[in-house]
This record gives sequence, structure tokens and C-alpha cells, in this order.
Amino acid sequence: MDGSPRLLDELRSLPTLDALVGAIGARNMTPGWIRRAKPILWHEMKSEFVPAHWRYAEAKAAMQAAGRLIGTDLAERRNFVMRNPIPGNDTATLRTLVCAYQSILPGEKARSHRHAPHALRVILDSRGSYSTVQGEKTPMETGDIVLTPGWHWHGHGHDGGEQAFWFDGLDVPLTHLLEPMFFEEHPQGWEPVETAVDVSPMRFPWADTQRALDKARADNEGHFGPTIELPAPTMPTITIKVHKWPSGWRNRPYRRAANTVYVVMQGSGTSRIGGATFDWSFGDTIAAPAWLEIEHKASADTVMFSMSDENLMKWSHYYRIEALG
Ligand SMILES: [Fe+2]
Repeated sequence: MDGSPRLLDELRSLPTLDALVGAIGARNMTPGWIRRAKPILWHEMKSEFVPAHWRYAEAKAAMQAAGRLIGTDLAERRNFVMRNPIPGNDTATLRTLVCAYQSILPGEKARSHRHAPHALRVILDSRGSYSTVQGEKTPMETGDIVLTPGWHWHGHGHDGGEQAFWFDGLDVPLTHLLEPMFFEEHPQGWEPVETAVDVSPMRFPWADTQRALDKARADNEGHFGPTIELPAPTMPTITIKVHKWPSGWRNRPYRRAANTVYVVMQGSGTSRIGGATFDWSFGDTIAAPAWLEIEHKASADTVMFSMSDENLMKWSHYYRIEALG
């Protein structure tokens, strides 16, 4: 197969379609017109992932056991990854996102590392825990949202008196898909603290979020309710929003080409995601695969965090949304 004029003549004069398919197959090409087990194009988005719900109360109880059973000396991070329950998957929560519940005990330090994937945290129960990101130490108090953009050194510690718990969200499955994974442990184990601050672009304190939500406006279509978007320009693959849903609020149902994970920061209610019904309360996580019908109903005043690949889909010009009712 040297591309000689004789060989090219032979290819040009192949006598049958079967011979042609065989000849290009030998060159690692497949005809675009054959039937494939998985076609190249299809009519409508259908995520391979399924709607799912994780209860914080259960994760927290299990974390309390983990606090007894494994230390940060053995577990770089003491966390429970929320795998989407589809065959063969032990990591991803949705196509582009992975989530975990994580915990740290008083006095512990989770060693510093850095990785290509972008990460964020929603602090569920903490008084006195903190993150150090690129040498900057910031508090992690209940209700805070904390950013760790890709390739930023980060470690966690705890100066308080009670076990702390939070939700982690990362774009690891997207990194797996695109393949630019890099990971490094800090050469000193724990990155030294250079400055300690309360105000940082890496931290959205609970009080600030509540103030912003009080002024937030709802979308005209009635899909999302009063919503703020938290600025995270250094981690553009993850869209971070917080919604405020008063007791009794329900949305106008929709589906959209974006994968969304919800975390209940306050309140309780019910969501129907693609026909699956989940009753949720504080700290719970709900995974909504793209293009499934989404309906929410708040049964108490609710603050709902969401992370999604909405801006990534928009940047790609893949985003679309459809009202369903
Ligand atoms: Fe990390």
C-alpha cells in the first residue's frame, strides 16, 4: 500500500462495491452510507444518563461512619462520588459533571493538589473549615459556595469543633472526554498559607447569595424562578446558578440541551425529571440529564443551587430549550 500509480489505478478500477468497501476498510476508512450499531446522526438528543437523587441525610450518616473508619492520611479526599446508575459507570453523575459529598474532621487537613478539571463546593454543614486555593485561605461556612478553578492548588482544613460536610461538583467527565487530564500532588503535601481573607472571587458567602436572591428576577417564561448566576470566568465549563423558589412555587415545565445537577441549599419540594419523581430536602442532590422534561414544585421556601453545562452548550451553539406546557 505505497500509493504507487499502479495501486491507485487498481483502486480506481475496483470492480464491485464489496471490493471497494474491503479496500477502504483495509485503510481504516468506513463508508458513510453503511448501517452502524450506533449511527453517526440521530433525530433528537437522548442522554445515556438517567435522572437520579441522592439523600444528604443518608450520605451525612455514612460520612460520620467514614470519619471513624478512614482518615485523610489514607483518603486524599474523604468523599462519596455520586455515580449515575447506568451500567459500566462508576464516576460520572451526568455526561459532563461529577459530584460528591465530602467531609473533614476537626483538626484534619486534606492535602493540597491541583488538577485540570474545574471544581466547586457547596458548603452544607461547616463552622470553621476552610480551603486554601493558590496560597489564599478562605472560610468554608454553611451556605458558602467556593470555587477551585482548574490547575489551582487547593487543600482543605478544619479549625472548628464538629465534622464538616460539603458538596463537590467538577467537570471531570468532560475532561475525560476531551482528554486534557493533568493531576499533581503538592510537593510540600500541604500548600503554605500566604494570605487569609474572607472576601475573594473564589468564595460566595451565604449572606451575599441571600441578598442577591432577594433582588433576583424570574425569567419571563416561568421555567427557572428568581435566579442569580455566580461569576466564574476562570471555569467556563460550569454554569453556576442559585434559584429562589417560594413555598408553593412550581415551574412551567421545559426541557433543554444542558445537563443540570441541583443541590438543595434550603427548603423542600418535589421534582419530576423525565417521569421520575424525587421528594427532596436540605442537602439532597438531583441529577437531571439534558433534554428530559423538568418540573419542580417547592413545598417550603427553597434556595436551590444548580450547576450545569449550559454555557458550554451555548458556546458550542448546541443549546436549545423547549417549553412543555
Ligand atoms: Fe481537588
